[in-house]
Amino acid sequence: MAATTRLIVDIHTHGYLPRYASMLRSRAVVPKIVSTKVRDGAVEERLHILNDEPSGGRPVGRQYWDRDEKLKFMDKHGIDVSIVSTANPWLDFLSATQAEDLANELNDDLEQFCSTGPSLANHQNVKRLYGFGLLPLVPEITTQSLLQSVEQISKLPHLKGLIMGTKGVGNGLDDEALDPVWAAIEKAGLVIFLHPHYGVDSNAWGGKDNGHVLQLALGFPFETTTAVTRMILSGVFDRYPRLRLLLAHSGGTLPQLSSRLASCIDHDPAVASRLNHDARYYLGKLYFDAVAYGPEELGFVSDVIGRAERYEGNKNRESSSPKSNIIKQAAAQLRSSGSKRMFFGTDHPFFPPLSSTEEKWQSVVDNLEAIDAAEGWSEEDKAGVRGGNALALLNIL
Ligand code: URA
Ligand code: ZN
Repeated sequence: MAATTRLIVDIHTHGYLPRYASMLRSRAVVPKIVSTKVRDGAVEERLHILNDEPSGGRPVGRQYWDRDEKLKFMDKHGIDVSIVSTANPWLDFLSATQAEDLANELNDDLEQFCSTGPSLANHQNVKRLYGFGLLPLVPEITTQSLLQSVEQISKLPHLKGLIMGTKGVGNGLDDEALDPVWAAIEKAGLVIFLHPHYGVDSNAWGGKDNGHVLQLALGFPFETTTAVTRMILSGVFDRYPRLRLLLAHSGGTLPQLSSRLASCIDHDPAVASRLNHDARYYLGKLYFDAVAYGPEELGFVSDVIGRAERYEGNKNRESSSPKSNIIKQAAAQLRSSGSKRMFFGTDHPFFPPLSSTEEKWQSVVDNLEAIDAAEGWSEEDKAGVRGGNALALLNIL
């Protein structure tokens, strides 16, 4: 196996660049960073980004904005390369003019953050840091401004794509107003990293104090599921078949629900008639991070992605039901082929250890061990998920 394919690449890792953190400090309403005096006059900063942020927000510190801290974290966990993205809620809460200016500045800042950072010791042509940029996706932004940001990102050599939330320009990602943006992103070959922020209606969480648990464990993945399903149902992937969409948190619940989705579509002719393929086909066109924390979940997601090959036929020309010879294709082969669309991630700097700052982060160890223990993945598949797949997807090396 070539040494480069053994590199560990973190595709899901965040930061608030200094310019963004300053903006959060200047705000009186969520999202904001608030500083409070603690013992002995020391100041503690806390991050409030969720509307119903429980427990007075989360402690926030240098690991959110300092490049050295990111590199130290990478070294501690044996991570060679990180693809850094701004954490939620991006620019969602700003006016069009503010979002436009800040997207432009933050994309340049992120390019600088990556390009002036170190290279890999054994591969001087590979940097340790790359990035996903930002678009000013807010209501009332002009299409031209969005297209300018796509062009800006595509010209910045260390930005390999862009992160986006689920709101689009206010009407979600199934909004036809976004068609020119999908077209431009597809043409530029940029990867879109789709990430949640809003969760689902917090009325579903009841009255008990469950901290962030329900929102992060269930609300976040379900938000991603809804957003990408709406894209599928509105035909985005039929119109832009080369669009490369990476889903946070292993696609939320889409893998688990995709056959149910296909069945519901089949029973709704108006929806079925506007799609070129069975719903399960589209999962084979998507990319999934491996931030799922367990080997069974990773194996399952790769099964479902691999199975998409059975639905390659165009629904309007062929039966959507899988051909029996393909059904007999070995499950192991499908699992292995599904793993090629999966990528290690950490979600740093979220989910830190609560006690010592010295130890390895359990959340990272869990995700690495899950890859190690994923049933049916060959050593080559595992090396791919740890890093080789990301290097290939992002054309690094
Ligand atoms: N919490 C967040 O707000 N964002 C993440 O990406 C992870 C945890
Ligand atoms: Zn994240």
